[in-house]
Amino acid sequence: MRTQVAIVGAGPAGLVLSHLLHLRGIESVVVERRSREYVEKRVRAGVLEQGTVDLLRSIGVSDGLDRDGLPHHGIELLFDGVSHRVPLSDLSGGRAITIYGQQRVVSDLTEARLAAGGQIFFSADEVSVDVAVPRVSFTHDGQRVELDCDFIAGCDGFHGSCRDELPGATVYEREYPFAWLGILADVAPSNDELIYANTDRGFALLSLRSPTVSRLYLQVDPAEELAAWSDERVWDELQSRLAHDGWSLKEGPVLEKTITPMRSFVCEPMQHGRLFLAGDAAHIVPPTGAKGLNLAIHDVHVLASAMEDWYATGRSTGLDSYSATCLRRVWRVQHFSWWMTSMLHNFPGDDPFERRLQRSQLEYVVSSPAAATTLAENYVGLRWS
Ligand code: FAD
Ligand code: DHB
Repeated sequence: MRTQVAIVGAGPAGLVLSHLLHLRGIESVVVERRSREYVEKRVRAGVLEQGTVDLLRSIGVSDGLDRDGLPHHGIELLFDGVSHRVPLSDLSGGRAITIYGQQRVVSDLTEARLAAGGQIFFSADEVSVDVAVPRVSFTHDGQRVELDCDFIAGCDGFHGSCRDELPGATVYEREYPFAWLGILADVAPSNDELIYANTDRGFALLSLRSPTVSRLYLQVDPAEELAAWSDERVWDELQSRLAHDGWSLKEGPVLEKTITPMRSFVCEPMQHGRLFLAGDAAHIVPPTGAKGLNLAIHDVHVLASAMEDWYATGRSTGLDSYSATCLRRVWRVQHFSWWMTSMLHNFPGDDPFERRLQRSQLEYVVSSPAAATTLAENYVGLRWS
């Protein structure tokens, strides 16, 4: 079997790349090790940057997003028991974020790809990559498939294997001494806007998925077992971390509960020969800045343009500079995500001096238009170059 671009992974990066290439007249095949049902049910991101929303609209995959996406023009920072609004849109020339679940993005894209005749092999086993040929091999429905191609796009997430095919890559990494316990709850969100809370008991975040479904997170020890967190304990902890005057948190049935470790990770370069990594396969950010999915989409936007240029003109300048182009944004987003994480979490072992520095930084962000603007323009997403 042959295609122009073999894409490993049907997450947001792989699916958007496949659709971008299709719209440019370039053929691709997507190979995904999980089932379609599994991929479409995986609860993860919820915050889309302005640039991500604009791109999904421009490729015609925004019916659900336009109908059910919830634009947000501000967020709240809660510390010392007082909540302060950061007016994102006022500080960023009218740009906004949109709340729309990652699993909706993935199922909308899957549908769009299949409707356009795109080929996605779900539940592929024993996926292996040979960069020299280049070729992706896998087993599907008991048959071994050898997929020859011009290029391989490694969009297989942090736990994928394409990254292992980059000889001599340098990895930059930081693990954080905490994780996020996230719940999805069948209850109307208690606030119109997201609340990021810094408290002595640790970080908490109130978010949402729809007018009837809330999404909430708690900072926990990375060694915590889910079994130790009954629904009642989760709600009690959320109640105490999010409490502030004149506000109350509504509780409801917990639909889903997970613990996610936090890390920063960058693999440099993001390419080798005919193999190009994109999204979480190449970099991970701690979720406090709500950036991972958005960064993945930026990568594939750069990659699709570079491939288009190569197919149309034979010029490889865009492909040659793919990694360098992406890494500029990757490092800006790394810094922002690390900064938000450092400002908002309780670091075990921090002494009172460090806690006071943290509080001073929070006070500065909510009182100085210059500092608030820095947060806002990064949070809604710096413009794509
Ligand atoms: P993935 O979504 O991981 O997709 C990779 C795909 O490759 C998967 O489907 C996987 O099954 C498949 N795969 C893996 N190995 C193989 C293989 N060997 N062969 C074939 N297929 C393979 N980001 C934001 O922008 N905003 C947010 O608000 C946000 N919140 C988050 C909250 C949480 C709790 C978490 C965990 C993440 C959050 N993120 C957020 C990050 C975001 O979810 C990821 O950055 C995003 O999923 C990256 O997309 P991707 O396509 O690169 O990788
Ligand atoms: C959500 C996730 C994030 O990482 C974040 O910073 C804000 C919101 C969410 O899942 O809604």
